[in-house]
Amino acid sequence: MTGSGPWIPGEAGSEARRHAPATLRNRMAIADVLREHLPRSGTVLEVASGSGEHVAYFAEEFPALDWQPSDPDPDALVSIAAWCDGIVNVAPPLALDASTSDWPIARVDALLCINMVHISPWNATLGLLAGAAKLLTPGAPLILYGPFLQTDVPPAPSNTAFDETLRARDPRWGLRQVESIERIAAGHGFARDQLIEMPANNLMLVFRAG
Ligand SMILES: C[S@@+](CC[C@H](N)C(=O)[O-])C[C@H]1O[C@@H](n2cnc3c(N)ncnc32)[C@H](O)[C@@H]1O
Repeated sequence: MTGSGPWIPGEAGSEARRHAPATLRNRMAIADVLREHLPRSGTVLEVASGSGEHVAYFAEEFPALDWQPSDPDPDALVSIAAWCDGIVNVAPPLALDASTSDWPIARVDALLCINMVHISPWNATLGLLAGAAKLLTPGAPLILYGPFLQTDVPPAPSNTAFDETLRARDPRWGLRQVESIERIAAGHGFARDQLIEMPANNLMLVFRAG
């Protein structure tokens, strides 16, 4: 399975915590790449934090960084707060819809977005890139993770099937072309620094603000 699976309600006594099984499978591989690209200190904004399990894990893996989770879904915000309760380097989650232009934060040192681009309308990605350009100083990383398509690379059958499933659920969703994202990103002054192949036919795209 590519991308995040469905959320599962938390265990008894922690009903606020949602559980996305994919986070347990992909978090170590993602952290290994983050280690190469995140700054040593400063604030990392996570857009589309979902259950909050990733940010809780990364905050403990990278204790010198301050983590700012966010999501537009009120249930996600409750879950994020529950997973991050007591973790000192995670700020309370922000209600942030990437497709809007009024993000509730002014400046960060890195931006991370995992598994949102294909499970949201294209407007969310356009807003993500525009918002990131306002927040990030030159050289700061914008890091995207998920399944993507590439013009010159045949898609993995699992990604083709996943794309069809997504489009059946919502015709505005679907796997995006890396080249389309790069083109929009370039218009906001971002250059692609790295494209890293990840397990289960996912990619990490690292852009740097210009
Ligand atoms: C598949 S989940 C991924 C969650 C988490 N990053 C993970 O990997 O488990 C997609 C997330 O994108 C969020 N999302 C959808 N549209 C969004 C938007 N316009 N701006 C920010 N987040 C959005 C959803 O609320 C959801 O939490």
